[in-house]
Amino acid sequence: MEDLTEKRNYSYIAKFFHWGFVILFIYGLIKQVQDIEQLENPSLLRFEVLFAFVFVILLLVRFIYMKRTQKTSLPEHTPKLQKIAAKTVHYGMYFTLAAIPLSGMLIGLLFWIGLQDGLIIESVVTLHEISIDLIYILIGIHISAALFHRIKRDGVWSSMVPFLKE
Ligand code: HEM
Ligand code: HEM
Repeated sequence: MEDLTEKRNYSYIAKFFHWGFVILFIYGLIKQVQDIEQLENPSLLRFEVLFAFVFVILLLVRFIYMKRTQKTSLPEHTPKLQKIAAKTVHYGMYFTLAAIPLSGMLIGLLFWIGLQDGLIIESVVTLHEISIDLIYILIGIHISAALFHRIKRDGVWSSMVPFLKE
């Protein structure tokens, strides 16, 4: 007999974006600026800003692609509150993933025009660091939710994750 349970799956491009960003983000964390004085090195400053720029553009392309072509794998009957929670965390991650490189680029710009210390650049650095703290929290919630779905075996995990398939 035909299996009538819905099996949602993300496209290869969607999975490539999702897992590509996990790698890109980890790379961004590893190569992070340790101290603002490092930005006195012009080639490091240029590289940081260029990396942040590419990151934002790719994030925008991903967002548009996902919105236009993909749907969440949450089953139809999922409680409304849970649907809203998932949406909030997903949008929150996009917003925060954009805020990190954008505030970083602003730091770069301020540094470049000579505002290398003072209240303005310090505020932007604080904003940059708050965004980073926030993304850790959101990713933590996101991974916990993914594991919760893996335990529930409702197809959400396997629609995106290539290992430990249901
Ligand atoms: C840097 C870390 C991560 C970020 C920023 C992230 C972000 C996202 C976003 C924004 C979505 C919504 C679909 C989209 O627009 O692409 C999504 C979906 C998903 N992610 Fe992640 N993710 C991360 C890591 C992980 C990890 C480590 C897992 C599993 C262990 C995971 C499992 C899933 C699953 C199962 C979905 C599908 C949810 C659904 O269909 O509603 N993610 N992720
Ligand atoms: C995708 C891009 C970026 C990522 C993922 C990223 C990541 C990080 C991380 C993880 C930290 C440490 C925060 C903490 O310890 O609380 C940090 C701090 C910092 N980042 Fe970024 N960053 C990015 C872009 C930039 C850019 C473009 C600049 C400037 C050109 C920049 C300048 C700084 C500065 C000045 C700090 C503070 C260092 C200190 O503690 O003195 N970042 N960044």
